[in-house]
Amino acid sequence: MKITIIGTGHVGLISGLGFAEFGNEVVCVDRDKGKILNLKNGKLPIYEPGLKELLSKNRSRVTFTTSIKDGIQDASVIFICVGTPTKASGEADLSAVENVVAQIAESMKDYKLIVEKSTVPVHTGIKIKQFMKRRGKNIAFDVASNPEFLSEGNAIHDFMHPDRIVIGVESERAKKMLLTLYKPMKAPILITDIESAELIKHASNSFLATKISFINAVSRICKLSGADIEKVARGIGMDHRIGSEFLNAGIGFGGFCFPKDLRAFRKISEKLGFEFKLLEETEKINEEMKHHFVAIVEDALWNLNGKTIGILGLSFKPDTEDMRYAPSIDIIQALQKEGAKIKAYDPQAMPVAKKILKNIVYCENQYDVAKGADCLCILTEWEEFKNMDLSRIKTLLKSPIIIDGRNIFDKKEMEKLGFVYKGIGR
Ligand code: UDX
Repeated sequence: MKITIIGTGHVGLISGLGFAEFGNEVVCVDRDKGKILNLKNGKLPIYEPGLKELLSKNRSRVTFTTSIKDGIQDASVIFICVGTPTKASGEADLSAVENVVAQIAESMKDYKLIVEKSTVPVHTGIKIKQFMKRRGKNIAFDVASNPEFLSEGNAIHDFMHPDRIVIGVESERAKKMLLTLYKPMKAPILITDIESAELIKHASNSFLATKISFINAVSRICKLSGADIEKVARGIGMDHRIGSEFLNAGIGFGGFCFPKDLRAFRKISEKLGFEFKLLEETEKINEEMKHHFVAIVEDALWNLNGKTIGILGLSFKPDTEDMRYAPSIDIIQALQKEGAKIKAYDPQAMPVAKKILKNIVYCENQYDVAKGADCLCILTEWEEFKNMDLSRIKTLLKSPIIIDGRNIFDKKEMEKLGFVYKGIGR
């Protein structure tokens, strides 16, 4: 099929290249000229494992342009993958979506299926339809919702092998087109109305965020009672109705999706007449985990003023350079406020972090960070931290203290090695 993807962020770029991998001809559109020029030259705007290879493999089936008008003419299906950031009110800002829809309405010459792939509030489909009818020229079109569930760092695998494909449609034509497009994927397909598909995305992300906050709240009880959250989480997760994933206690969730979608979902509910207080609590627990972590550091080091703290990991999760809403930002700023000096290392996120976090000594690797530091804090569970030479780390640190915000090590083993080891909920 011939398809157009508008927006080359995480969702757009991976979906575009993924559809190309399945043999479709794809046009990727983005208004950012620099980004498009780079993509034409094989340079990626994001770090995502396997993406470079996917781009070079599918180069002949993908074209890049900054023009929506040129980009949509040959395509029958157009995916809207532009950003839906948070407004100061907490609502999703849909002005980029509206702008794209306006340009489609303006330049389309034949039938188009317009698919929302970005996370949008329920009823966005209705708004798009109304807008198209007002601005269009009596050319037939359909609107569909097909939310994307890929997660950063594992995005290509998630796109190719999703747990489910959700298709919200209201016409047979749109349904058939999307079923044809997704035929090569072996995933179960759920066909719904547009509103339900829109809600599935917000509800899924809010549920996952709530699962993390739940385990983080339990981690606080573990700490207070002398239980070990790792064992408690294992015991909870063995119940198949609960499941073991997303039960890792730590410094909380970050990234562009969970914080943004939680707030947007709360706002949508409020607008519709229901106060979703549970989600307010989910957010609150998440915020508190960062303060809790700083309190653990203070407890271990006593006064922070003048102490050197080594930070391992800055991105909101491993295998990405994404720093958006990363817990590391608030934690580092709180430590700096107390007068601590910060040394840090992250395998991918340092160029981005340098623009956000100032007065930090950015290091070459974990050993550089440990040299002369009063303690080492693990904020992102990168694989290379799990495999570091701990004896070397111990000799480099001023005092052998590790505060692990992601519980990546075995407490007993660490104590056997002679570390003062503090984690979350244990
Ligand atoms: C998420 C959703 O998983 C994905 O389906 C959606 O499309 C976009 O949002 P992403 O933000 O890329 O994906 O990462 P995810 O792996 O879900 O992690 C989000 C945050 O939760 C990270 O900060 C992570 O560290 C944290 N997390 C996750 C925990 O603290 N504990 C866990 O058990 C799992």
